[in-house]
Amino acid sequence: MKVTINTLQKKKNIEKITAITAYDALFGRIFDGEVDVILVGDSLAQSFCGFSDTLAIGIDEMIYHTKAVCRAVKQSFVVGDMSFGSYQNQREAIKNAVRFYKETNASAIKLEGGLNRVGIVKSIIDEGIAVMGHIGLMPQFARSEGGYKIKGKNELDAQRLMEEALALQEAGVFAIVLEGIKQEVATQITQMLKIPTIGIGSGVDCDGQILVWSDAFGFFKDFKPKFVRYYLDGEELLKKAIRSYTDDVKTKRFPSIDESY
Ligand code: KIV
Repeated sequence: MKVTINTLQKKKNIEKITAITAYDALFGRIFDGEVDVILVGDSLAQSFCGFSDTLAIGIDEMIYHTKAVCRAVKQSFVVGDMSFGSYQNQREAIKNAVRFYKETNASAIKLEGGLNRVGIVKSIIDEGIAVMGHIGLMPQFARSEGGYKIKGKNELDAQRLMEEALALQEAGVFAIVLEGIKQEVATQITQMLKIPTIGIGSGVDCDGQILVWSDAFGFFKDFKPKFVRYYLDGEELLKKAIRSYTDDVKTKRFPSIDESY
């Protein structure tokens, strides 16, 4: 059955929400129905395009990848990430969010930002577009902040995060990603909100969890943040497979008679 905002919100305090990223139809098809939410995250800039941060990816690329995922996904709830620079002011934000809804089949968009983005979030929602918020460690701000910094480490920061979460809920987001937030602060935010929180590096008490698929399955091992758990050694498996294939080609074990016309 197709996951909707209603399905996700009803899970709060009852059942954990599961989420993972996907960037193409191939993996969208594999993950479809296995998780509640599939996020076409701008993390694809790093894990798939080799950039050092997420800033280089543009809205056209995000729409291209979201369209590919949507072609394959029938059950999970697809969220498309707004790229850096695509929602810097109200006019651009609405224009690009509308493009997302018109050109892809995504059920919602996600954008990073707290109090500084509440007005923009509200104006997108007023256009009839569902928005997922994202606060805490926001990778689009990592360059200007001089790195990936864990949030909520002191009382003032924790207070600000709670205000941001409440303001986004008030603006109408249906869920919020809490990234890189001290566990006790993420727990407090989760308990305080009516809408679900989806955590990444923010502890076990969030209403759900999300991981970048290439991290979770061991395909992106340049850097392993503390919160990543490897569920597969994908890189090693694939390397073994490619070596086995090239050996077979070189030794003429591939193709066999049965594999020839
Ligand atoms: O871009 C992304 O993959 C994300 C998740 C890590 C939440 O924003």
